[in-house]
Amino acid sequence: MEILGIDIGGSGIKGAPVDTQTGQLTKERYRIATPKPATPKKVVGVVQEIVEHFEWKDAIGCAFPARIKKGIARTAANVDKSWLGTNVESLIEERTNCPAVVINDADAAGVAEMAFGAGKNRKDIVMLLTFGTGIGSALFVNETLVPNTEFGHIELHGSSAEHYAADSARKKDDLKWGEWAQRVQEYLDVIEFLFAPDLIIIGGGVSKPNKREKYLHDLYTNADLMTAELQNEAGIIGAAYRARQLLVASD
Ligand code: BGC
Repeated sequence: MEILGIDIGGSGIKGAPVDTQTGQLTKERYRIATPKPATPKKVVGVVQEIVEHFEWKDAIGCAFPARIKKGIARTAANVDKSWLGTNVESLIEERTNCPAVVINDADAAGVAEMAFGAGKNRKDIVMLLTFGTGIGSALFVNETLVPNTEFGHIELHGSSAEHYAADSARKKDDLKWGEWAQRVQEYLDVIEFLFAPDLIIIGGGVSKPNKREKYLHDLYTNADLMTAELQNEAGIIGAAYRARQLLVASD
C-alpha cells in the first residue's frame, strides 16, 4: 500500500509517496521551504501543494514537531503558538480531501527506524532521540511505540534539555563538536539514569555520516548506541508507515 508521507519541519516541508511494505520512496522527494510565519493556514497550504505535485488522492501520513493527541497539537515549543489546540488532522483532511493521520515527528522517525533501520528486530527498550532545532524522543517497548514522549523537555541546567543540547544550541553557542558532545553526554546520562534503555538511536541532521564522525566517538552509554539509518527520510517513511497501521486498524 502506498501512502503519501509528509514531514513538516522548521525549515522545510518535505513529501514523497512511500511503499509501506518496503519503506522505499516511490517518487523523488519534493521539498518546499516552510512559510514564515508558519501558521496553520500557510503550512496546510504547502501540504496541499505537495499533494497537488504528486496528484495524490489517497491516504496521507504526516509528521509534525509537537505532541499530537487525537489529531490535535498539544504543545508548540518550536512551532508557531497558533498551532496549540489546532486539529491538524482535520485541517489537512479538509484542505486536501484525503484521509490523514498526523503524528509527532520524532515518533515518526522512530517508527521508521524500528521497521526499516537501526531498530529493526530490537524487542527490548529502544529510544530514538533526534537532535535538531529541539530534541525529539520516541520510546519503544517490545517494538510498540509509547507515543508522544517529550524527553527533550527533561530539565537540565534549569531549563528544557533541548535548550542546552539540541543541535541548535551547538550553533547558537558556537560550540566545537567536542564541546557539544559533552553536553549530549550529560543529557544521555540523565536519560540512562531515568529510563535504562537497551538501545539509543541518535537521529536528526547530526546522524548524517559526515556529521556523526565528529562527535560519536566522544559518547559513552550503557545502552547500545547507534545513529539513525534513514536520516532525512525517516519522518516521511515513518509517518506513512504509521498511517497505514492506524488506517488499516480503523477499517
Ligand atoms: C517538541 C517535540 C518535537 C521535538 C523535535 C520539541 O521541542 O516539543 O514535540 O518532537 O521538538 O522536533
